[in-house]
Amino acid sequence: MSRDDLLKTNAGIVKAVCEQVAKYSPEAIMIVVSNPLDAMCHVALKASGFPSHRVIGMAGVLDGARMRHFIADAAKVSVKNVQAFVLGGHGDTMVPLMRYATISGIPVDRFLDKATIDAIATRTRNGGIEIVNYLKTGSAYYAPSSSAVEMVDAILNDRKELLPCAVLLNGQYGVKDLFLGVLAKLGKDGVEQIIELELLPEEQANLDKSIAAVKELVTLL
Ligand code: 2OP
Repeated sequence: MSRDDLLKTNAGIVKAVCEQVAKYSPEAIMIVVSNPLDAMCHVALKASGFPSHRVIGMAGVLDGARMRHFIADAAKVSVKNVQAFVLGGHGDTMVPLMRYATISGIPVDRFLDKATIDAIATRTRNGGIEIVNYLKTGSAYYAPSSSAVEMVDAILNDRKELLPCAVLLNGQYGVKDLFLGVLAKLGKDGVEQIIELELLPEEQANLDKSIAAVKELVTLL
């Protein structure tokens, strides 16, 4: 089963839960973790009636953590030294932005050859299914929970932390009114800023594919 197969069932659950959240905790900031993640953020936004800066999807921290781990493993360095993130939807079309990945600030291509970098990008995109195959039943839960905790920590402690997460775009990357994984600043108000990076044509083309995949799911809601 893919993340997208969960669309209809989870839309009903997320809607019911978010209506209750909005009723009993009207000032809450919601972090959505249900799949398909980006589409479920739309359900949460609509069901809660919250402003978009208070509805955030957890996916990029998880995908970025997997990517950082794979880079650290290949380069034989501590994962603490690795900075890396993905853009786009939380699905097979996500875009691991290898050009921005660094080891202690040094571009990752100074440590790893192209074939290894490409393999890491592919493994990152398939990280969710890799865990599902190990577990046999169910899907990842340790890393998703710890990723959500990192986002909660950034908000509760007003850390102004730049984290990859699904937020409602308002023109960034040429996209409006769509939740998509991008770098965002999280602080006490939830999403406090959306960071828009300059992309190479090939990166933008990959992101466009991911945008199209998320749009298609959202229209099925
Ligand atoms: C994950 O990436 C299934 O979306 C979940 O582990």
